[in-house]
Amino acid sequence: MFDAKVYTDRRNRLRGEVKNGIILILGNTEASFNYPANTYHFRQDSSFLYFFGMDHPDLAGVLDIDENKDYIFGNDVDIDDIIWMGPQPMMKDRAAEVGVSNTAPLKDLLDFVKAAKSKGRKIHFVTPYRGETYMQMEQLLGIPFAEIAGLASMELVKGIIKLRSVKDQFEIAEIEKAVDIAYEMHTTSMRMAMPGRIEREIAGTIEGISLAKGGPVSFPIILSVNGETLHNHYHGNVLEAGRMMVTDAGAETTMHYSSDITRTVPVGGKFNQRQKDIYEIVLAANLKTIEATRPGISNRELHLMAAHIIASGLKDLGLMKGNIDDAVKEGAHAMFFPHGLGHMMGLDVHDMEGLGENNVGYNEEIKRSTQFGTAFLRLGKKHQPGYVFTIEPGIYFIPALIKKWKAEKKFTDFINFEKAESYIGFGGIRIEDDILVTDTGYRVLGKPIPKTVKEIEDTMANPL
Ligand code: GLY
Ligand code: MN
Repeated sequence: MFDAKVYTDRRNRLRGEVKNGIILILGNTEASFNYPANTYHFRQDSSFLYFFGMDHPDLAGVLDIDENKDYIFGNDVDIDDIIWMGPQPMMKDRAAEVGVSNTAPLKDLLDFVKAAKSKGRKIHFVTPYRGETYMQMEQLLGIPFAEIAGLASMELVKGIIKLRSVKDQFEIAEIEKAVDIAYEMHTTSMRMAMPGRIEREIAGTIEGISLAKGGPVSFPIILSVNGETLHNHYHGNVLEAGRMMVTDAGAETTMHYSSDITRTVPVGGKFNQRQKDIYEIVLAANLKTIEATRPGISNRELHLMAAHIIASGLKDLGLMKGNIDDAVKEGAHAMFFPHGLGHMMGLDVHDMEGLGENNVGYNEEIKRSTQFGTAFLRLGKKHQPGYVFTIEPGIYFIPALIKKWKAEKKFTDFINFEKAESYIGFGGIRIEDDILVTDTGYRVLGKPIPKTVKEIEDTMANPL
């Protein structure tokens, strides 16, 4: 946990963004897995963590803006809890650690909200993302669950996003710890990527590294020789020489800050020429967009820069053709690069996505594109110092997409479909790093993880 002052300052700044009324920030409850008492690993809501820091289920935080008072609603443990969970601090002491002096049992929240409503006070809340929270809010606010999303406070959503988007030095230090754990995960994955291994042996080992060094993984591990499937969670393939293996994996620290890193390596540890050719294009897109990062440049510009580098490189290999500016403008590159360059990262690996992707990544100035490919870019707006985001270009040979566009005779001026078909079975390559926007440029966070062909081959020369 950070110092109490950090949380008090954050709440005070949120007060400046939301002018009057009451802000309700619900923590998460336990969620059942396959029977009521067998629960998923508990994960606190990230905005609750940001403003109230307490990492336990069944808590609610309230900022009474008009009265300038903060509250934590939550129950003290009883003897049954102590028998099963061990001794726990009293709620009052826990709340004091985050600078809150007003505490009350959870059941009092209903009366508190009712009293505020009866006085006609505005109650600000955000749209929930869990069924349990919808039910809790329906009961607290007396609003049918289907109407809750429509009544969420945009003032609160915008205020939270404004604050959480700019990371302070303590948060950056946490994210760097998460990248350093990812360093161990990824170099282990590289060294295990040898013929005969089953993907799950590697995925399980690196998930264990995350748990041993911080917290759980920041999202389910993507690890596959079929890297053309962007979010491939099937880990049952046996590694064979000649394939590429994508590992897209990150860790959470004990304080729940994330990392999100992707590396792609040749099974066995040596790139062949065809793999190297595609790899170097993706690497150039990764490096050049990182180098171009600075305050004021929009992430959509960076995305389109990556698209341009990818399309030009593919033209050099004969996979694309024609005028590359036109190809990118029309979206032809998206057959090979059908996703966005990256997303914000912080307490959530896709930071604040629960508050609405467009609210986080776009604004009045830069609206989301509707074009296939660029439409999937989660972050389009201009960068500011303190933003932390991912840069993750890729090239993929997706059999179904190649066949579909060929049959539709789509972009025949820009794509050499015969050549693209000859790459079916190649898989995909993605290279992802976590970047801080500084006052003048950028900093790649954490210990550098092998990325060039030579660095990867050198790392894999010591197999595990
Ligand atoms: N690391 C997975 C993603 O960014 O979607
Ligand atoms: Mn990512």
